[in-house]
Amino acid sequence: MERDARIYVAGHRGLAGSALKRRLEGDGYLNLVTRTHAELDLTDQRTVRAFFEKEKPHYVFMAAAKVGGILANNDHPAEFIQSNLAIQANVLHEAWRNGVKRLLFLGSSCIYPRDCMQPIKEEYLLTGPLELTNRAYAVAKIAGVEMCCSYNRQYGTRYLAAMPTNLYGPGDNYDLASSHVLPALVRKTHEARARGLDRVVVWGTGKPRREFLYSDDMADACVTLMKLPDGEFDELLRGPNDFPLINIGCGEDRTIAELARAVASVVGFRGRLEFDASKPDGTPRKLLDIGRLKALGWSPRIGLETGIAAAYKDFLARETGAGKKTNETFEAKT
Ligand SMILES: NC(=O)c1ccc[n+]([C@@H]2O[C@H](COP(=O)([O-])OP(=O)(O)OC[C@H]3O[C@@H](n4cnc5c(N)ncnc54)[C@H](OP(=O)(O)O)[C@@H]3O)[C@@H](O)[C@H]2O)c1
Repeated sequence: MERDARIYVAGHRGLAGSALKRRLEGDGYLNLVTRTHAELDLTDQRTVRAFFEKEKPHYVFMAAAKVGGILANNDHPAEFIQSNLAIQANVLHEAWRNGVKRLLFLGSSCIYPRDCMQPIKEEYLLTGPLELTNRAYAVAKIAGVEMCCSYNRQYGTRYLAAMPTNLYGPGDNYDLASSHVLPALVRKTHEARARGLDRVVVWGTGKPRREFLYSDDMADACVTLMKLPDGEFDELLRGPNDFPLINIGCGEDRTIAELARAVASVVGFRGRLEFDASKPDGTPRKLLDIGRLKALGWSPRIGLETGIAAAYKDFLARETGAGKKTNETFEAKT
């Protein structure tokens, strides 16, 4: 990517998009194109077409999506599949029509089968049934991967689909009704400490294993990929089973119980952690195989405890800054 390239970061105020923007600006890419959701609704085909025709970006990072935790996905599957299919179809199509040089489409590790072998290799895509709670979202993201593949094959575009593991970091969503497990645990233990409670109830048995990557590490991996020389980039596009697919993770997982203890330690909560086994655990294990990424010389820099401490600092700053009330709900989701 040339320093003066016009780079569109879709979803630049979200967890992933804000990390990408920070990283690109830090690298001296100053010709970034951004729009808030209010300024540009990516589900609206006509306005997306007008935007691309006016801005003519050279590169696109696709970090705009309707995203949520297990509860939101389970309760609103129609919204998750409709919004994500529309956003992807509009952006990927207009990127092709307007001659975008490279596009990085962000999906998620939930595209892989619920019970697939671990660690999860890219080639396991479409080899088994999906987890039911977020199947609508996963199917939309799989359609996005297939769109990347199909546009590359038919139109010669250079669209790469990157699948990050669970992300956390500055600007995360701490609303207990829609957040992922790590930010939900941060809010719950913070509120329990603030109120002097002696216990925090965590959804599920605490036994499922999950992998967590700090958002700045994810951005580092994405920018590394987009800066690859043509030969290496094109090699990635000829991915397993023809899918232009690459996993982004840290290569290690922890149980939810270990994660909850790490969060409690950072927050300074000294009470008990109770596990409510009547609540769903979700997929038993989800660890990505990051062999393809490592082969390019990439590795993560921010360890879990360091990352949680940085995320908690951001959480505290935002809580104080916004003067927000604490949330009454005390159920964390896995
Ligand atoms: N968070 C994770 O743990 C994780 C893990 C793996 C992969 N990912 C992937 O990373 C991508 C981004 O996720 P995230 O966690 O950064 O989500 P996020 O924090 O919710 O950010 C999503 C961004 O997309 C924007 N957006 C949503 N609908 C839009 C629309 N119709 N038009 C324009 N903008 C729209 C949002 O704007 P508003 O907030 O204003 O609606 C927000 O800025 C997703 O593809 C997701 O699958 C995330």
